[in-house]
Amino acid sequence: MKLSDIQKIQLPKIEDDRGNLSFVESNNHIPFDIKRSYLIYDVPGGQIRGGHAYRTLNEFIIALSGSFDLVLDDGDERKVFSLNRSYYGIYVPKMIWKNLENFSTNAVCLVLASDYYNANDYIRNYDEFKNINNL
Ligand code: TYD
Repeated sequence: MKLSDIQKIQLPKIEDDRGNLSFVESNNHIPFDIKRSYLIYDVPGGQIRGGHAYRTLNEFIIALSGSFDLVLDDGDERKVFSLNRSYYGIYVPKMIWKNLENFSTNAVCLVLASDYYNANDYIRNYDEFKNINNL
C-alpha cells in the first residue's frame, strides 16, 4: 500500500447525555482481525516512539487522550497525521515506516494490531526498509 491510500478512518460515535461511545470491529471498520492491543502513554516531552516498519503486521492507531503526530513513510514520501480525537484512527498497513512524535502531556495512544508481538517482524534499519520496498 502507498502512503496516498492511507486515510483517517472515522469510527461510529454514539452521542447521548451520558457521554459519547465509539467502537471498532475487526473486518468492519478495520481490515484485519485484532489479536493484540497495546498502549503508549507517559511519554516525556520531546521523545519519539516507533522508528521502524513491520514486515507483516497491520495496525490501527487511535489517540485515546491528548494528541500526537503519526509520521508515516512508504519509502517514497512522508506524511504527518495529527491525531487528537478518540473517534477516528489511522490504518497503518505492513511495510510502512512509522514514527510517533510530538506527544502532548497525558497523551494516550492505543494500537490495535493484527498479530502477537514478534521481534523478528520489525525492520529497524531505514536503508533495509527502502531496499526491501524497492525489490
Ligand atoms: P517497540 O515496538 O519498539 O515500541 P515503539 O514502537 O512504540 O517505540 O517496543 C518497545 C519494547 O516493548 C520492546 O522491547 C518490545 C516490547 N513490546 C512487547 O513486549 N510487546 C508488545 O506488544 C510491544 C508493542 C512491545
